[in-house]
Amino acid sequence: MNKVFLNLGRQPLANSFLKDIGKNTLRNEFFYNLKICFNTKNYLVSIDKPVNPKKQYTDKYAHRASESKTMRSAFKKVAKKLIKRFRPKKIMEIGSNDGVFLKNFNKKSVIAVEPCKNLASLTKKLFKTYDEFWNLKLAKKLIKQKKGEIDLIFSANTISHIPNLKETFEGIFNILSDDGVFVIEDPSLLKVLQNNSYDQFYDEHVYVFSTISVNNIVKDYGLRLFDVENLPTHGGSNRYYICKENGKYKNTSRLKKVIKSEISYKLHKIKSYLEFSKRVNISKRRLFNLIKKLKKKNKKIISYGATYKSTTVFNYCNFNSKMIDYVTDTTHNKQGKYTPGTHIKIISPEYGMNDTVDYAFLGAWNFKKEIFKKEKNFFKRGGKFITHVPRVMTLTK
Ligand code: TMP
Repeated sequence: MNKVFLNLGRQPLANSFLKDIGKNTLRNEFFYNLKICFNTKNYLVSIDKPVNPKKQYTDKYAHRASESKTMRSAFKKVAKKLIKRFRPKKIMEIGSNDGVFLKNFNKKSVIAVEPCKNLASLTKKLFKTYDEFWNLKLAKKLIKQKKGEIDLIFSANTISHIPNLKETFEGIFNILSDDGVFVIEDPSLLKVLQNNSYDQFYDEHVYVFSTISVNNIVKDYGLRLFDVENLPTHGGSNRYYICKENGKYKNTSRLKKVIKSEISYKLHKIKSYLEFSKRVNISKRRLFNLIKKLKKKNKKIISYGATYKSTTVFNYCNFNSKMIDYVTDTTHNKQGKYTPGTHIKIISPEYGMNDTVDYAFLGAWNFKKEIFKKEKNFFKRGGKFITHVPRVMTLTK
């Protein structure tokens, strides 16, 4: 049974950066109600009423996975690791984005699945790319084209975006070779609760997985979770290793340990989520009050990184352009646009991170290390960052 435990209010699509803020554009801006629920039976945490994916993954999808150095090297590292451990002959990625992961393999042995046409067109020149949503129909089409029996299916930050888990896993089961491995990377629910990072909830994150929920769900589709790894990416993620029920892999002691730690944190109890919800509410009040207080002192506050996560924070905490002067972001196709729902201008950091800035809200808090290294001068001249993770505070390095 699904129980709602958190209401993040009226939200726009996290990715829907606006070209202009004219009356017409604003009239057509799409909003939905972001409520998060917990399934008391399989422990899955999900958006109560997900948005139709056709609205989200269009030919204008802004996120480029290779935009960050942290992610480029993380994908290179995992590709090397998976080659060494599983020696796969046929590899497929679901949600291949701009090819940042698959570029590390022999291009003849890979298949990319990416529904955003602007991204798929980037990799079509490099390797076989299907610009379609992953589902059972596509799995069957690939099998028909003799592209089945895949040894390694990889999917980072994508499975949590697909509302229909049944189709997803049935498709995987059909196309995976008998001893094949399906590897998923997604933000960790345990980390979200520990860090109060409620901004991991936005329209695209239909699910925020825990190990205990993945362990339960895959069983329904003839699959078995046999290993899990805790990762530092995206503020704390998990890499799940899944095989067929009778696959050759033994369940690792690492998996047992992670499950034990989630149970001891009570991720299987609704009470933990209700307490989290209270902390989120407090975080909202503190962040809003801090910014109001600094504004009263005439401080210039900007936001660093027009992330999808910051869409949730901005809209939930009722930010506006009187509180945040502008947002900086390195992604060219976000620059010159406006933040979804709150309509704050996005500019490049070369212009935005100048001597007039007193405080920068860390929208891209998951890249804190990379950013702090880059912004030494900002700190040197007395600039401060503001974050809400794990609690609302200012950072002076
Ligand atoms: P993500 O958290 O959704 O991956 O998005 C990170 C965003 O932050 C992306 O639009 C790029 C931006 N960014 C910067 O503007 N400066 C930086 O130094 C880093 C690491 C990211």
